Amino acid sequence: MFHLISILLCTAAWMAQATTAPPDHEVTIADTHPLIAFHGRWDASPGTWWAGSGFKLNVENLETLKLNLGPHTTSPLTSVGVSVDYGPYATVNVSEGANTIPLPASGAGKNSVVRITTEGWQNNRMQLESIVLNKGAELKPYTPSKLVFQVIGDSLSAGQYLDQGVLQAWPVLTSEAFKAELRVNAQPGAALKDIPAWGNVHGVSFEYFRTEDTGFFYTADHNYTTPWDFARDAPPPTHVVIHIGANDASQNVTAADFEATYLAFVARLRTLYRAQPILVFTPWGWPAADGTVSYYYPGSYARIVEARHALGDRNVFLVNTTGWVSWTDVFPDNTHPTEAGHQKIAGLFGGWLKSWGLLPEVAWPTKASGVPL
Ligand SMILES: *[C@@H]1O[C@H](CO)[C@@H](O)[C@H](O)[C@H]1NC(C)=O
Ligand SMILES: *[C@@H]1O[C@H](CO)[C@@H](O)[C@H](O)[C@H]1NC(C)=O
Ligand SMILES: *[C@@H]1O[C@H](CO)[C@@H](O)[C@H](O)[C@H]1NC(C)=O
Ligand SMILES: *[C@@H]1O[C@H](CO)[C@@H](O)[C@H](O)[C@H]1NC(C)=O
Repeated sequence: MFHLISILLCTAAWMAQATTAPPDHEVTIADTHPLIAFHGRWDASPGTWWAGSGFKLNVENLETLKLNLGPHTTSPLTSVGVSVDYGPYATVNVSEGANTIPLPASGAGKNSVVRITTEGWQNNRMQLESIVLNKGAELKPYTPSKLVFQVIGDSLSAGQYLDQGVLQAWPVLTSEAFKAELRVNAQPGAALKDIPAWGNVHGVSFEYFRTEDTGFFYTADHNYTTPWDFARDAPPPTHVVIHIGANDASQNVTAADFEATYLAFVARLRTLYRAQPILVFTPWGWPAADGTVSYYYPGSYARIVEARHALGDRNVFLVNTTGWVSWTDVFPDNTHPTEAGHQKIAGLFGGWLKSWGLLPEVAWPTKASGVPL
């Protein structure tokens, strides 16, 4: 009887709400909604850190999309990429307050997948308060790809100096080509060893285990770091890719010290990622105008992989990127890969993965009406 009464009361309340709501009322999704598929590192506010953090939505009948962002959002703006139905990312600059996200016409009965991802390694904070959809829109579950890449690195993986940051860099290009989910933790200027380098107060061997990137130190309203709860990386990565060492070399970390640091880092990663292949990039080096390329830590990366094998861990692989990048692939003033350079790297890494035995997924599991099957 009690149950019947409460059902009647609830129904009455629901009917009262349904009849008093204006006919054009929008659908507001709270930041805690379980169908928001977050990726990357989000603090409790909830706000993004690290280039490449963001979220995905699978929406039926999507016509309009607004983001209400809170005061921890980078001022005056942060640049995010918006991809609809797995199309290319278009930059939208968003700020504290209400932001209308431009969308192509979709229409009733259609299913849309919207992916929103931060571009920059700095000024990359988007504090989500709520998402507002058109009346009649309905949030559906987003089913992640079976492939999930975790990339760990520095400026060479963060897409520093590119217009759209990480969205034009090899980690995103590779994961898009393989129809894979991606998490990137790439900190420009940071060494792997936990030492100050180029304005970073910590190295990646420390910061990888934190929610915040090292930009926290320059952030007056959040000048601290918190541990990252790796259980939030759901689903966990299927492949871990590491490309690091340039800033250890520039800080004169010796080869022996670098190798020991790297091995300790991999040992700690193995406590999180027990069975996943770990792919260790050798440097592609710093090309010069005269056609030469200077490589840091020659031999070290192969020794690191051999040392893991000697410990019985055969699931660590060397990705030999020697010769992948030449002078024509980099910006002359900073020798970081250009957009075309990143496309070349992604093509070569994709080829490496295929010959290693990993094929791209045939289709994204969350279907979008705008995408032919
Ligand atoms: C976003 O803001 C940046 C920095 O102000 C600007 O250079 C860029 O043109 C803007 N992009 C768009 C798409 O508005
Ligand atoms: C953050 O705190 C450190 C001291 O721990 C200080 O040196 C630094 O200037 C602070 N940064 C900001 C932006 O307030
Ligand atoms: C590293 O060594 C070079 C060559 O000795 C020196 O010029 C440079 O200042 C050193 N860098 C650091 C960060 O110690
Ligand atoms: C990496 O490739 C280069 C160029 O092909 C080759 O000279 C070098 O021996 C390779 N290194 C390893 C560790 O296989």
